[in-house]
Amino acid sequence: MRKQEDQSQNGFKSILKSYRKYRLKKYGTILSEILAYYGDLSDIHGKRILELGPGRHLNLLRFFKNETNAKIVFGVGKSFIWPWMKSEYRSLVHDSYILNFLKSQGSKKYDLIYSRYVMEEHSIDPIILLRSKIYWRYLKENRLANPDRYFPSSIPNMQAIFAEAYKHLSPGGILISEIAKMKNSALDDAFLEAFHWRSLKKRKIGRLSQVVSGVKR
Ligand SMILES: C[S@@+](CC[C@H](N)C(=O)[O-])C[C@H]1O[C@@H](n2cnc3c(N)ncnc32)[C@H](O)[C@@H]1O
Repeated sequence: MRKQEDQSQNGFKSILKSYRKYRLKKYGTILSEILAYYGDLSDIHGKRILELGPGRHLNLLRFFKNETNAKIVFGVGKSFIWPWMKSEYRSLVHDSYILNFLKSQGSKKYDLIYSRYVMEEHSIDPIILLRSKIYWRYLKENRLANPDRYFPSSIPNMQAIFAEAYKHLSPGGILISEIAKMKNSALDDAFLEAFHWRSLKKRKIGRLSQVVSGVKR
């Protein structure tokens, strides 16, 4: 296990060096996790990859799109993508609430679904939230203190997203979630253990953060 982790760390470092232009450092934890499963970039060949909440820079999506032979690469989430981002990259993201999007996916399956700093309370961009009708409706109905699964970035919303993402994993598919603040995480032990994993790993990063990764049976 230790050896595998060292290898994926080394693999990540050499990718970081060879592909500087994508500024992948902040996705280091996720990339090392991915490499711990896939070995190296050639194993990504033919894979269907989905990022939840890629934000505005699209670092890892652009990297996968340009530098691997993945079959499908795209993201879904609400964010303000930089206006100067090339349209070929902008089109990598579906501008949608994640839960709505996943529910519209029918029987589509993905081999790898990952997210960074999404599966936790309050991860939605606050300006997007303040501009949404749903926020004002919940405020008016006095439901902000106890939001349900339809309120973006609430714990029930994130748990519904995770469960839906799990449904859209192929057998042997990998689900990776990096959490910025464990105290806000939607992925508590009891919740995670309710799924049928072939394997499930939780790793602490520093004092505050964590990465959770599971392989579907
Ligand atoms: C904290 S940011 C992280 C962005 C990027 N993954 C990164 O690491 O830089 C979380 C992103 O997910 C989006 N997001 C969070 N919850 C969402 C939801 N329920 N539906 C759509 N987008 C959501 C946010 O608006 C934001 O763009």
